[in-house]
Amino acid sequence: MPIAVISDIHGNLEALSEVVSYLEKKQISDIYCLGDTVGYGPNPNECVELVRKKAQIVLMGNHDYAAIGKANIEYFNEYARMATYWTINTLKEENKQYLKSLPFSHQNDQFLMVHASPTNPAHWYYVLSAQEAQIEMQAFNQQLCFIGHSHVPVIYSSGRAVKSRTYQFEPNQKYIVNVGSVGQPRDGDPRACFVIYDPDEQKLEYVRLDYERQKTHSKIIKAGLPAFLAERLLKGY
Ligand SMILES: [Fe+2]
Repeated sequence: MPIAVISDIHGNLEALSEVVSYLEKKQISDIYCLGDTVGYGPNPNECVELVRKKAQIVLMGNHDYAAIGKANIEYFNEYARMATYWTINTLKEENKQYLKSLPFSHQNDQFLMVHASPTNPAHWYYVLSAQEAQIEMQAFNQQLCFIGHSHVPVIYSSGRAVKSRTYQFEPNQKYIVNVGSVGQPRDGDPRACFVIYDPDEQKLEYVRLDYERQKTHSKIIKAGLPAFLAERLLKGY
């Protein structure tokens, strides 16, 4: 049975709704979310409530951690810091309690899932190169590790970084798969990004979906969040 792995929704309800209805049409009900459900975007409550309803597993991301007052946001840039204060003030208590309950990782025989890095899922390191990925691969025994955090879709294996819409995994190889971002892609493509993984066929597919970006843009401006956070959604950076 294929599963969907989504990440970095960042309070973008238009993008998340598009992904959810696509998966419903495809009859894929196994949904895993790698965290950063909130932060930056104008609909943190709605996104928490929808992801909680639809996903089997939801992990803790650094922005979720910040929204429950646990992350040190000194290291956030100005926009992220402003958005964090806004998110803390906007989130309902019930949703904060839910975010507090989220785990940093999930694993089974086939894969490990974390928000940031396999070596230390609670420390929010970025895996940004094939060299870093080689080191990170020592931290898990499964064939695959799914990550998010950088908002850039890429597959790391054997010292290489591969960008491909579809991918066939080889036996006896290890992989780190960055699934990209649903609600704030940063790879120059503004469409929502996530993956569908078929464990039986050992295949991966990146899905890109258009959504009502202009609507999210307007909501961000109306909420008084930094305009930069609205502008970046139109171009995917
Ligand atoms: Fe993120």
